Amino acid sequence: MDHFRYQNGELVCEGVSATALADRFGTPLYVYSAATIREHVTRLRTAFAALSPKICYAVKANGNLHLLRLLSSLGCGMDVVSLGELERAFVAGVEMDRIVFAGVGKGEQEIRAALSPVHSPMRDWRGGDGPDAAFAARLAKRGSVSCFNAESEQELEVIARVAEELGVTARAALRINPDVDAYTHAYTTTGKADNKFGVTIDRAIALFDRFGSRSRSARHLVLDGLHVHLGSPIYTTEPYVAAIRKLLVLEHELRARGHAVRSVDIGGGFAADYETGKTPAYDTYAAAIVPLLLPLVERGVQIVMEPGRTIVANAGVLLTRVRYTKHNGGKHFVVCDAGMNALIRPALYEAFHFIWPARVPAELTPTERRSEMNMPGLNPVDVVGPICESGDFLAQARKLPRVDPGSLLCVFSAGAYGMSMASNYNDQPLPAEVLVEGDRASVIRERQTIVGILEAESPRR
Ligand code: LLP
Repeated sequence: MDHFRYQNGELVCEGVSATALADRFGTPLYVYSAATIREHVTRLRTAFAALSPKICYAVKANGNLHLLRLLSSLGCGMDVVSLGELERAFVAGVEMDRIVFAGVGKGEQEIRAALSPVHSPMRDWRGGDGPDAAFAARLAKRGSVSCFNAESEQELEVIARVAEELGVTARAALRINPDVDAYTHAYTTTGKADNKFGVTIDRAIALFDRFGSRSRSARHLVLDGLHVHLGSPIYTTEPYVAAIRKLLVLEHELRARGHAVRSVDIGGGFAADYETGKTPAYDTYAAAIVPLLLPLVERGVQIVMEPGRTIVANAGVLLTRVRYTKHNGGKHFVVCDAGMNALIRPALYEAFHFIWPARVPAELTPTERRSEMNMPGLNPVDVVGPICESGDFLAQARKLPRVDPGSLLCVFSAGAYGMSMASNYNDQPLPAEVLVEGDRASVIRERQTIVGILEAESPRR
């Protein structure tokens, strides 16, 4: 579901034409639809209402401050995996009691700043145009992050030591590696025994004995939550069911040993509509998950979810302009101004993104988004970028209507892990980002400039 559609052969985002946006703001350009984000959050919350979950949006999917502000205004907390993301969420107005701090390799400095504002790098921040007293005051009185999702015994030791040094009490949930296959790309599978994430169920009991609510360390660190994240995207409910069943057995055992379990975080991973009709509805995920967790909720356990992709993927597209078309070795290439620098998912995971011209004759209006489109007059092309690697493609052997230099292409479902994974490879400036609300469009991130790139390396510094 999203608010990008064709009207009279012209792609519009909510009430704004994609061509008009590209003409006004240039390309490559990320365009986001506020209504799509709102609708996803509402639908997700409705589907899982019986659990009253704490929805902590995964900032890594897309951390633009304006999108975080929007999500925060919709009642979302944030799941962060670095101090950078934590400060980003805080700057966007999210208070620490709504932030969970995950990540397999949190540094000691990151942990320190997540526990005490005295160590926050944002103490040096002066806002856009001068010192911002309101921000400074907010920062000065901020407390500790609501929960560390801890991934190893050594990490728990560091959190406990730093909390003791600072004279505060940290809260942690333990990330369990349930050894469940999420049947997704190997690079984004995170819950199998040989992945680097979490600890095995056997180790979990020993760690609760050492750091749980009844332990000696509990004055500075209370381990009283369970966390799991299986991978992304996950197109079926079975992996969730298998992992949650294992968590429930563990929770029972921990309780039997006298440990408190106050929260259970089921991570993220819900899929997005990259292709029409392939993704389960929220109600389908909920039908499998809610009955399993309801007994915990009835005992007062807080359920946490960390959705990223499912909220923002369909809310964003990447607009790119065709620069050249050419033939090589029997193949047709469409060379665009965006490649793996702007959107690395096709190159890195061979991920599918539907691509279509922003303006088409009426008979070529797509009614569905599929990897194989059946319409007359389509030809297979490789849609590639300007980057000097043969792995730099947005699509391979994709049937598209005819395009020429200057044509505008739309890469759909690019709102998640698009801009957040974009790079300056080949010294390509990062794209600009625009947020559409109804018939208004505003720049929410300026296009990076070449001067901006080079300034960071200026010898004057
Ligand atoms: N929680 C944890 C602990 C995670 O590691 C992730 C994603 C999420 C939540 C959010 O998952 P989501 O709801 O967005 O599926 N770059 C890859 C995806 C990497 C996901 C990493 N972790 C891609 O472009 O497909």
